[in-house]
Amino acid sequence: MASGNLLHKWFPTAERPLVISAPMFTVANGALAAAVTKAGGLGMVPAGMDPSATSPHLAALDEQLAIAGRILDESDRSSDSTGGDGSLASLPIGVGFLTLLATPEAYRANALPIIRRHRPAFVWLFGSEPAGYGPLIELFREAGAGWGIKVFVQVGTVEAAREVVRQGADVVVAQGSDAGGHQFAAAASVVTLVPEIVDALRGEGEFREGREERGRGGGGGRCGGWEGGCGGVGVGGGWGGDGDSVTGAEHIIRSSVNDAIMGYPTWSNLYAGRTILHSGLEDIANGVSIEQVHGAFKNAMSEGDEKRMITFAGTGVGLANKSQPAGEIVHEVRAEALAVIAKLKANF
Ligand SMILES: Cc1cc2nc3c(=O)[nH]c(=O)nc-3n(C[C@H](O)[C@H](O)[C@H](O)COP(=O)(O)O)c2cc1C
Repeated sequence: MASGNLLHKWFPTAERPLVISAPMFTVANGALAAAVTKAGGLGMVPAGMDPSATSPHLAALDEQLAIAGRILDESDRSSDSTGGDGSLASLPIGVGFLTLLATPEAYRANALPIIRRHRPAFVWLFGSEPAGYGPLIELFREAGAGWGIKVFVQVGTVEAAREVVRQGADVVVAQGSDAGGHQFAAAASVVTLVPEIVDALRGEGEFREGREERGRGGGGGRCGGWEGGCGGVGVGGGWGGDGDSVTGAEHIIRSSVNDAIMGYPTWSNLYAGRTILHSGLEDIANGVSIEQVHGAFKNAMSEGDEKRMITFAGTGVGLANKSQPAGEIVHEVRAEALAVIAKLKANF
């Protein structure tokens, strides 16, 4: 493990190249996160979007972090799991907050007690206007100072990357338009977004280097470490909540109306969602009103009609064609990334 690689310094239980299972709300859980971390990646548990005192999302977060902690404590986790530069041991797991409804007050009252109880090594924020992350970043950094918590922020444009660095993010996650789930409505493909962000941030602060690795299972999100710079891959679309992969080579499409069809809280115009094509989108294209499509969606869900199911997934979902343990996926993605790097080195 090279000492110059900041992400690996911060997360010493993780192997190179770093594989992170994305914080997929409604899909990821403590067992999946622990399996990914045990395989030398970094697993994540979703915190959802409801920051209220009676939030079922935060209750699930508490429960799933406890599960991840139990699984990891039972494994042969090395004693060097101390978070970053802090002195307290941290849980080598991340927590993904969807921040569209967040306020510092609600997080302070309802999320921070959970964060302090479980000490996740990092939090990953997504869903705000880029200029609005500062107070949240500050809040988590203060709460996790004892174990050196790191704050990741996911963005889809170069401008947003610059802004979240100004707001104090430790790590910029560059999410391409090919990623699954919610994403920037105006995001670029990860192929161009990563090098553009690396170029834009180079020379600012301590950023030194960015890198991208992508094997067969690689996802549409990439991490660039701030202050030292290094690459990793955040994979979403290939995971199921029980640690197995999902299957299907389907048509994937990005649309801003998925939330309205589901009756979800409204994300700002900055965001849209990439899903597997479903009947609701076809109806909208044919002029059916959102209200009618929402009604049909609710009926179909209560009747178990899968044609109207809204499944968030990335471009890579077609590559997930068998069910396998999460740890095996981590090992495969890492091995494939190294093979790609070795092949490129040999050829040039
Ligand atoms: C089902 C699903 C749920 C997601 N939920 C979240 C979330 O809660 N928070 C978040 O920051 N990103 C979320 N994402 C987006 C991921 O962080 C990530 O950008 C994406 O999955 C990248 O990998 P992929 O190309 O393999 O999908 C979700 C993605 C999927 C597929």
